[in-house]
Amino acid sequence: MPFRNLLGYFMLPAMMAVVTIAACAPRQPNEDRVPPSAMKEALSYKAPFGDTRTAPSEIVAAGKALYEGKGRCSSCHGTSGKGDGFAAQMNPTHPPRDFTNCAFQKEREDGELYWIIKYGSSGTGMVPLIPGMLSEEEGWKVVAYVRTFCAAQS
Ligand code: HEC
Repeated sequence: MPFRNLLGYFMLPAMMAVVTIAACAPRQPNEDRVPPSAMKEALSYKAPFGDTRTAPSEIVAAGKALYEGKGRCSSCHGTSGKGDGFAAQMNPTHPPRDFTNCAFQKEREDGELYWIIKYGSSGTGMVPLIPGMLSEEEGWKVVAYVRTFCAAQS
């Protein structure tokens, strides 16, 4: 087989493998999940009760009940918030975040978290859950609870 053919024979599969691996590589935890085209819209979303990091305790308690109950968030995100629920590994390439990671919490605006709950994160186990699973109001309560996994937040 002439050298050039040989090259083509091996190079193409090799290049395809590289592309496939790149497409499947897990993203960094802090990397944006909201696509750039939707970021402006996501950042415009605000909770009706203000900053979710300082939500009143009754809102947080309601969010916890939804997270562990009706919303079934804990089945993937874990009751610990570390992403260790029983269904967390449904798509091992894109596992759920560790919500106890304060650097991650600091990085994310409220609207980004809410947007993902509403529209899901394409290609991962995170499917759109508002309004199918939760109402908009319930969605915000859950975001307030998700914030509490970082114990050191202000
Ligand atoms: C079937 C498993 C599953 C369920 C159920 C689930 N999630 Fe997720 N969730 C994921 C995965 C996996 C990701 C990571 C997606 C990614 O990497 O892009 C994610 C991402 C998120 C994010 C975005 C985190 C970030 O990086 O910005 C939020 C917020 C979130 N989930 C909240 C919830 C809430 C609230 C519920 C319940 C109402 C819920 N999830 C239910 C699997 C799940």
